[in-house]
Amino acid sequence: MHGRMLAVESSCDETAAAIVERTTDGELRVLSNIVASQHELHQRYAGVVPEIASRAHLEKILPVLQEALARARCTLNEIDAVSVGIRPGLIGSLLVGVSAAKAIAWSLSKPFYGIDHVEAHLWSGLLEQAAPTFPAYGLVLSGGHTNLFRIEHGDPQPTLLGWTIDDAIGEAFDKAAFMLGLPHPGGPHLEQLAREGNPRAHAFPLAQTEGFQFSFSGLKTAMLYAVRGVPEGRGKSSHFTRSHLDLTREAKADLAASFQRAAIASILRRLREAHASAPCPTLLVGGGVIANQVLRHELMAFAVEHDLTLRMPSQAYCVDNAAMIGGAAWMRVVQGSPSDPLTVPAQPTSKLGAPRHS
Ligand code: KG4
Ligand code: ZN
Repeated sequence: MHGRMLAVESSCDETAAAIVERTTDGELRVLSNIVASQHELHQRYAGVVPEIASRAHLEKILPVLQEALARARCTLNEIDAVSVGIRPGLIGSLLVGVSAAKAIAWSLSKPFYGIDHVEAHLWSGLLEQAAPTFPAYGLVLSGGHTNLFRIEHGDPQPTLLGWTIDDAIGEAFDKAAFMLGLPHPGGPHLEQLAREGNPRAHAFPLAQTEGFQFSFSGLKTAMLYAVRGVPEGRGKSSHFTRSHLDLTREAKADLAASFQRAAIASILRRLREAHASAPCPTLLVGGGVIANQVLRHELMAFAVEHDLTLRMPSQAYCVDNAAMIGGAAWMRVVQGSPSDPLTVPAQPTSKLGAPRHS
């Protein structure tokens, strides 16, 4: 099984297309990976506005697809299969990429794969890297998910061991960055500011959750009070007496560094516990937050300490991209799963995310 997979991703505020080739010796080569970000369009709202996002996807999808083909020096006739991120995401955004991918698959009469975005992050460390041995732990840290999986040998379906009971880690980074007056999305800006700060300046708490669960709301509140002071008054008349504008750059950098240290420590704690309870030879990691250099360094140190094979995507494959969609689609081909009918719908939630309680 080898050939060229056209992959599309449009679940949130990135319009992306890629060509991922599986070589005869099983390597996943990324021939092109084009991402058009809409960050500047959402900047003034400090978050993604769904209507603006879907309109921007419509404008960008065809140029992005054309560029992905051109960079890979490939025509549509040289494509062997088509894949697209089909869930989770903003439905209006998803539909743009999904409709484009279905139209291409239909017109070329090629197999079509609707891919779960969380699963794509989970396998993203396999792009351009040798296949690891299983069982493996898998960690997805993004703006929407904080999931710890275990993947058994010979069973492609990952088992969800832990998830966040409140905010996702990327969301917590973005909110902490917002508190410090940094632009959206705040994760990379907070990391940059943290480089100037002392990570031990504030002793932020580690959440006391059960099992392998994660929680970031306590850390977020601790950060809010550290930035703005404990609110005065009660109920409706409660208010903050300080804003981030009252803090020096040095004080903000200390807060950013301390927040980052605590958020990363909570992830490493769960990894350590999971590995101690049932060791695995491999650790797969993925998702936007894996672009964080301090976290990458800690994961590498963890892997060395426990003699693990770490499959960590290069930074281009951490934040949302289409190469990871193509990689996950190839995983399905390799595992012998059938392709999807063109009637498969786009969906707002992931089957791999946290269980839903009604
Ligand atoms: O995977 P992703 O691009 O989108 C989702 O699937 O959610 O992840 C985006 C998240 C955002 O919350 C962003 O702030 C965070 O990843 N992020 C980072 C860094 N780069 C991106 N967080 C911390 N440090 C970074 N360097
Ligand atoms: Zn993502």
